[in-house]
Amino acid sequence: MRLQKFIAECGIASRRNAEKMIESGRVRVNGELVDYMGCIIDPECDTVEVDGRVIKTESKKYYIMLHKPKNHVTTVSDDLGRPTVMHLVQDINARIYPVGRLDFDTSGLLIMTNDGNFANILTHPKHVVNKTYIARVDRPLSEDEIEKLQKGIDLDGVKTAPAKVENIKRPQKGYEVKITIHEGRNRQVRRMLDAVGANVMSLKRISVGSLTLGNLPEGKWRRLSDAEINKLRGKSK
Ligand code: URA
Repeated sequence: MRLQKFIAECGIASRRNAEKMIESGRVRVNGELVDYMGCIIDPECDTVEVDGRVIKTESKKYYIMLHKPKNHVTTVSDDLGRPTVMHLVQDINARIYPVGRLDFDTSGLLIMTNDGNFANILTHPKHVVNKTYIARVDRPLSEDEIEKLQKGIDLDGVKTAPAKVENIKRPQKGYEVKITIHEGRNRQVRRMLDAVGANVMSLKRISVGSLTLGNLPEGKWRRLSDAEINKLRGKSK
């Protein structure tokens, strides 16, 4: 088995983050530093250490969704000592980690798991997973702005993939825009709206693929049902 796949299956990190861990010299196999890609291990015989600790596969897999509040980082630990999403799932007795990320100041649906393969399906660019956000903005978007955002807009010299964008009319709540994208570029929704001159006051993710946040209260989590997990895996419609 590839080393990064084994690390992911142990619930330490997604496969892509496991690759980063290897490259940054945090991984040893049978006591030897392995900081290159391509290492194959035998999970039955080889001993793998991450940051000096032996890791083993956790047989029980956990799949949850958290309603992330803003002012939390989507990492397992934070050098600046800010609250992380891990503080909100302390009652789960497994090394789950966030699938993908939401900005510190963004709230909403965050999937967490200790199943590296599942995390890989949801984050690998070859799988198109739509994510929908509600942005509170200072004004409605014009037809022209909506069309520009839908067709793709230049961010750092690279055009964004086609998106779905609509104004939502909720007079009592001010102006809101619903936007669906499948890329995960840094602060993408905020930067897209900024590019057409709209001011984002708050941003919340309401769905990832087939999974919707529903009325899960902020700061709370719940387990995903088997049907939800299978749908996200693309195994049923
Ligand atoms: N786009 C953003 O701007 N922020 C997020 O957290 C997610 C998508």
